[in-house]
Amino acid sequence: MISGTEVRDIFLSFFEQKLHQVVKSAPIVVKNDPTLMFTNAGMNPFKDIFLGLKSPNSKRVADTQKCLRVSGKHNDLEEVGHDTYHHTMFEMLGNWSFGDYYKTEAIAWAWELLTDKYGLDPDRLYATVFEGAPDENLEADDEARTMWKKYLSEKHILNGNKKDNFWEMGETGPCGPSSEIHVDMRSDEERAKVDGATLVNQDHPEVIEIWNLVFIQYNRKADQSLELLPATHVDTGMGFERLVMALQNKRSTYDTDLFDGLRGFLENKTGLKYETAPEPQRIAIRVIVDHIRAITFTIADGQLPSNTGAGYVIRRILRRASRYAYSYLDLNEPFMHEMVAILARLYKSVFEEVAQQEQFIARIILEEEKSFLRKLESGTQMFEQYLADNPDSKEVEGSFAFKLYDTYGFPIDLTEVMAREQGRSVDMTGFEQELEAQKERSRKATSVSAGDWVVVNSGDDLPRFVGYDTLEVETRIRQFRTVQAKKKTLFHLVLEETPFYAEMGGQVGDQGTLKCGEETLRVLDTQKENELIVHLVDKLPENPDGTWTAQVHSLRRKKIKSNHTATHLLHSALRETLGDHVEQRGSLVSDKVLRFDFSHFSKVTEEELTKIEKEVNERISLDIPLTEYRDMPIEEAKAMGATALFGEKYGDEVRVIVFDHDYSVELCGGTHVDSTGEIRMFKFVSEGSVAAGVRRIEALTGDAAFEYLDKKAQQADEIAALLKAPKDPVKAVEDLANKAKELEKQLQQLNAEKVSRLKDELASKFRQAGGLNLLAEQVAVAAADDLKQLSFDLRKNQENALIVLGAEVGGKALLSVIMSEDLANSGKYNAGQMIRDLAKEVKGGGGGQPFYATAGGKDPNGIPQALKKVEGMI
Ligand code: SER
Repeated sequence: MISGTEVRDIFLSFFEQKLHQVVKSAPIVVKNDPTLMFTNAGMNPFKDIFLGLKSPNSKRVADTQKCLRVSGKHNDLEEVGHDTYHHTMFEMLGNWSFGDYYKTEAIAWAWELLTDKYGLDPDRLYATVFEGAPDENLEADDEARTMWKKYLSEKHILNGNKKDNFWEMGETGPCGPSSEIHVDMRSDEERAKVDGATLVNQDHPEVIEIWNLVFIQYNRKADQSLELLPATHVDTGMGFERLVMALQNKRSTYDTDLFDGLRGFLENKTGLKYETAPEPQRIAIRVIVDHIRAITFTIADGQLPSNTGAGYVIRRILRRASRYAYSYLDLNEPFMHEMVAILARLYKSVFEEVAQQEQFIARIILEEEKSFLRKLESGTQMFEQYLADNPDSKEVEGSFAFKLYDTYGFPIDLTEVMAREQGRSVDMTGFEQELEAQKERSRKATSVSAGDWVVVNSGDDLPRFVGYDTLEVETRIRQFRTVQAKKKTLFHLVLEETPFYAEMGGQVGDQGTLKCGEETLRVLDTQKENELIVHLVDKLPENPDGTWTAQVHSLRRKKIKSNHTATHLLHSALRETLGDHVEQRGSLVSDKVLRFDFSHFSKVTEEELTKIEKEVNERISLDIPLTEYRDMPIEEAKAMGATALFGEKYGDEVRVIVFDHDYSVELCGGTHVDSTGEIRMFKFVSEGSVAAGVRRIEALTGDAAFEYLDKKAQQADEIAALLKAPKDPVKAVEDLANKAKELEKQLQQLNAEKVSRLKDELASKFRQAGGLNLLAEQVAVAAADDLKQLSFDLRKNQENALIVLGAEVGGKALLSVIMSEDLANSGKYNAGQMIRDLAKEVKGGGGGQPFYATAGGKDPNGIPQALKKVEGMI
């Protein structure tokens, strides 16, 4: 049987022989594209080339791209596990022509590869072609049909509509007619019974699409019109896992060798056999083996689970897997982290980033699992509480089911099962509505509707960035547009040449001005959109044709530079002091502060921090000059010791920033000081944890560091003045703390005496009621603990006694019910039940044990009423 690895290799070498350059997958987490969170199609990284904004290194490219379809336009999350051929994360094999070959070759090569090289039976293949769309003046793709006729009989060539056969990346962007290849993997008997052509695009698990050939020729503009692109392109995407399924003749992608290791691991853990397990367990196994891949690859590309954005999507995927394991496979201890090792081995030769970070990824997953299992318990309790609070309802509210789904990661089908076990159902319509509303919210939160660019001066090349060498240039406007974001209107502008640094690699975007005669535009921020440098300005230019002076706010840039270089020095100092396991996990470099996240497994101690800070300051005082290499071949840079960051996209040629070849060598696109002396000073302000095994340091440089120290010194002076101890304020604070401790002790003693007096007073107030010795009194105490003490003291040596006390503490009501041992043993009364009833009088709630219970409430005025109520109860 051909292995998955061989399948991938054959694809890549086939296209290599057809003169394609084989490139590495781009990271799964997308940066610099406001329309996308994760890479969801193989063509995403090439968007600018299709649009003619960037010229390709090679006109023919092939690759396998890591894709994730869990958000936005392409979202398969809820299907995954329930069917046998969808995945959250999958590999998309692709070959690309950028203005080079077109339909003829794309179809001929697809056919040659599938039938000749892979040996798929031609009789099992179907091709779909675009039938045209008169509403948009789009003609049927007769060219593709004619091509296919060379290989397939008419019965195997099917028409497809705009939905299936006109591929678009999103609301806007490159698009064109497509031709899909489907494979029928059913048995010969079944094929004889039902014609495969009738099952194409009908969600049949064994008649599935494997390859999509897109003939890109239009750009969908913001006003929804289609514009012809300057050249025609080919974008093909083949579902790798599905291809392997077809070639290994399996019934499902999950049965292929790509999942053998992961499935085997779960079989060992659970004692189940996937083949023979009942369907709910099989679903759970599919969910877990799918999700662990998505989580592992995304963390490998630098995205940690978190509570917002892409991090939250990952956290939810992990919880979904964890929940299925818990409920269907009885796995209630963390285990998924152990599966990272299997993936590291399986993908070592193609996605080495997993093996390189195996320990780190496993650790992050372990911590997530642990914290989720704790959460799961509270979720289950919440569910039980909900059932108890709504004893008469037959249906669990949709909004509550959604809360469990959203906050505790309970997949809806599991909530349904749990409800069914209690003889209830779930309001699915309500749940769906909440889910839709959430999707809408997240769509709105990310959606910006950009108007089309107004092109003033078109050009062949991408606009040039000149801001490493100068902060001011004379330039022309290339294009501008208006963008409608959540609540405000923004204006975007692209220049022919710009000194403005666009936010990237943690460094914030530049600010400054654009001037043309009397007209001034303020640049509020600069950002990258794919490869374009976009200036966010306060208004549209009145003079778009003029010559503009672009000027960066230089003092701000100077502070940013200092912080960026200091970040590099810090990185080296951390590795020197803490060890080589320290890897950058994120950074922010602004004009105000620098923040650096890195892998390290314990708190950085005070001594270590002092040592690191000292070392950075030493490097500053050595005034080490900057050595900058632009356009250095990446291999050469690596040989020089420069480390690449995970999840970053690097070209063949890179920029390398060196401050002393033996000390700091980094691949970096940011701006830096000419020599380290310019930084003047480096000062830590905080150290803490951001995630399991990831620490965060914040620090200041230059003026900000001096100001910080000044403020600290001033505070120290103020403290000394307040303490009237100018010489030794530290000792004065110690004395003060000791004195406070002493006073606290005395206070406690006084309180105890007071409680004891109170007890003596109350002891005489027992009276006979309902055949009991009853004491029901309001008392004056300082704290809840005093009330408890008093209740227990009063109970001592009493028989057949019930003691109910009320007190007002801090504006709130407190109640307590306690009974003597004999009364408690008799089982006649239950303090817990009594207190719940009494608590109503003070607008509160409470509980406890049968012999002793307490309550708190909002309304102290209800205490007398509560005390009176006791008599009615006995
Ligand atoms: N862009 C197309 C897809 O994602 C083909 O690569 O299906």
